[in-house]
Amino acid sequence: MQASDPSTYVLFGASGNLSRIKLIPGLFRLDQAGRLDPKMKILSIGRAHIAREDWQKEIKGMLDAKFPKGYDQEVFKRFIERQHYHGNPPTDPDAFAKLKQTLSDASVFPQNMAFFLSVRPSDFATIVDQLAGAGLTDESNGWRRVVIEKPFGTDLPSAQALQASISKHLKESQIYRIDHYLGKSALQNILLQRFANTILEPIWNNEYIDHVQITNTEMLGVGDRTQFYDATGALRDMIQSHILQTLALTAMEMPKDLTPEGIRNEKIKVLEAIRPIPVNELEKHAFRAQYAAGEIKGEKVPGYLEELGNNDSVVETYAALKLFIDNPRWKGVPFYIRTAKRLHEADTRISIRFKKAPLQLGQDGQQQNWLIIGIQPRECIKMEIQSKIPGLDIATRTIQLDAANRQEGDESIDAYEALLLNLIEGDNSHYLHISEVEAQWRLVDPIIEAWAKDRKPVHQYPAGSRDPEASKVIFESEDQFWRYSIELGGDAH
Ligand SMILES: NC(=O)c1ccc[n+]([C@@H]2O[C@H](COP(=O)([O-])OP(=O)(O)OC[C@H]3O[C@@H](n4cnc5c(N)ncnc54)[C@H](OP(=O)(O)O)[C@@H]3O)[C@@H](O)[C@H]2O)c1
Repeated sequence: MQASDPSTYVLFGASGNLSRIKLIPGLFRLDQAGRLDPKMKILSIGRAHIAREDWQKEIKGMLDAKFPKGYDQEVFKRFIERQHYHGNPPTDPDAFAKLKQTLSDASVFPQNMAFFLSVRPSDFATIVDQLAGAGLTDESNGWRRVVIEKPFGTDLPSAQALQASISKHLKESQIYRIDHYLGKSALQNILLQRFANTILEPIWNNEYIDHVQITNTEMLGVGDRTQFYDATGALRDMIQSHILQTLALTAMEMPKDLTPEGIRNEKIKVLEAIRPIPVNELEKHAFRAQYAAGEIKGEKVPGYLEELGNNDSVVETYAALKLFIDNPRWKGVPFYIRTAKRLHEADTRISIRFKKAPLQLGQDGQQQNWLIIGIQPRECIKMEIQSKIPGLDIATRTIQLDAANRQEGDESIDAYEALLLNLIEGDNSHYLHISEVEAQWRLVDPIIEAWAKDRKPVHQYPAGSRDPEASKVIFESEDQFWRYSIELGGDAH
């Protein structure tokens, strides 16, 4: 693989959490893999003034913390030479003019520039205004791209306001909106498994599929992020972004080619084809709950309201929705999507149940086929089929074809690492188009609003339990159930 074009990575919020644990280590690993041009530079920006040598020590500290078993010293020497620091105090009216002056030294900084805004979301629009005001978004001397971290707005109006503000200065092709799930190899694999094989696509429709479940469950609680979480909730945190993107990849039509434009156009179409949830029938389509005190891995843990110290909160730590996609492929097929904290298992997967086989044996018939795509922790594809139990009688049992997508010795790449490379290569297929962001907010906003208004105590589930029984209210038919673990021999009910 070739290294990318010479460019300068300008990292706002370089001392922050995301930068320490993902961005700086991710860039280091790209350097190690030979994917950064020898001339590439990284200019870290913060409010304080820090000498370059001190910043380089800071970077070393980040790498030591991330790679405690050590790292290649040759690569480190090269990486540390790429590092520069620029203090940008918010009180200095000339701060961005000074930044421009620093960056205009083409003998140090390549003039293709990626500005990564790893800062508070309330600062996104202001920084873009200031970059543009200093002429730094002008592409006459090289490409200029701006990465906007998650979340892009907190609802449709705020997302549209942010878009209106930044699009005064930037073309759509210059804006890279992050949903880091899209950098995950397992998610990118959904499209490849669907379209690089001939056997799946013919059955990937309402003729064969009974329903689809897209699930993300965690055993963790909200931890020390109670205030953040209570202002956000499961719908905004997981469903609006990561889970709807997973649904888009699962349900989209085959793009005419694998170009960023081809992929994003099909994702937009399918997201826009999701039928809005009728707010007057919300309880048949959406279910929310909060975890109560319980046990995780044998340890007692407190409930959400207790952690928050506020019994009035109606913010959900569990959210399940039933969605329909109004297009010929998916007519009548429910998509059940759900996310939860403090459930009995941590798993992200797509579970597809197929319709009943034409031949039904015995009075009760047999189990329906499932196809399961494991995203994390296990990247796998598993199919459950019915097979005869050897012996004198005609009876079937479920057997599992279970293949790991990840094999021993395979590279393990962090999602951010892939996204950082895509950015300097100008490939925005794994970044969000504004129409995707808008379609996602348009879908969840009415539910968030209705739930916020409904102040009745929220259904409680004990930490460490399975889905609340009451969540089954959203199923279309009585024989549907939440699909659990994907491990071989795992519990199917
Ligand atoms: N952390 C994650 O895992 C994660 C995951 C998903 C999305 N994100 C998004 O990524 C962005 C960065 O997250 P983060 O966790 O790295 O944030 P953070 O650690 O809280 O802050 C990032 C930087 O913002 C600057 N900053 C902090 N408070 C400020 C204030 N009051 N006024 C002006 N500047 C301030 C600081 O830089 P200086 O002091 O050097 O100026 C800090 O290093 C956010 O938009 C977040 O939503 C983060």
